[in-house]
Amino acid sequence: MSVELERVLVGREAIAVRVAELADELGAELDAEAERRGERAELVLVPVLTGAMIFVADLIRELERRMRIEVVRASSYHGTATRSSGSVALSEIPGDLAGCDVVLVDDILDSGRTLGALQAAIGEQRPRSLRTCVLLRKDVERAVHADCDLVGFDIPDEFVVGYGLDYDGLHRNLPDIGVLAAEAR
Ligand code: IMP
Ligand code: MG
Repeated sequence: MSVELERVLVGREAIAVRVAELADELGAELDAEAERRGERAELVLVPVLTGAMIFVADLIRELERRMRIEVVRASSYHGTATRSSGSVALSEIPGDLAGCDVVLVDDILDSGRTLGALQAAIGEQRPRSLRTCVLLRKDVERAVHADCDLVGFDIPDEFVVGYGLDYDGLHRNLPDIGVLAAEAR
């Protein structure tokens, strides 16, 4: 365990196993979708930066198929806050998702504001299908409804860092996910 963490919630081995399972589940859903429609649409993964960076890097290498990757950037936490600010700033949404099978990928579902806003914005582009895959889902009451088709782990309502998740821009590089030690803040 890294010295920055007070407690590990999801360790690196469990993450690796689950990411491979998520890739298998997603691949099977996309195959079923193609079978149903009699044709395969272009697959586009849309990771939400910066938090989903490490998750998506591992996920796409387990998902052996042709895909395009189009990043979006969203931020709802500012600086040293450990609660969502209530407003979400989104970058420009990639403009060529019409007719594609789109998979929105984020690190964590918390209040639902980020994924809710992104699902609405991407939906306006008329993708053939839109799925959302999150590594973590926090056990909180959502401010905004957001659909999640694939979830890695359900976690309690604690502020976590590691494997892409940050506190004030730091600790994203920790290989395990856990609760930050008070001295590391
Ligand atoms: P939401 O819009 O409240 O659902 O927040 C989602 C975003 O907030 C995620 O994409 C994360 O970047 C960030 N976030 C939520 N909870 C945590 C946490 O426990 N640690 C670090 N970042 C978090
Ligand atoms: Mg984020």
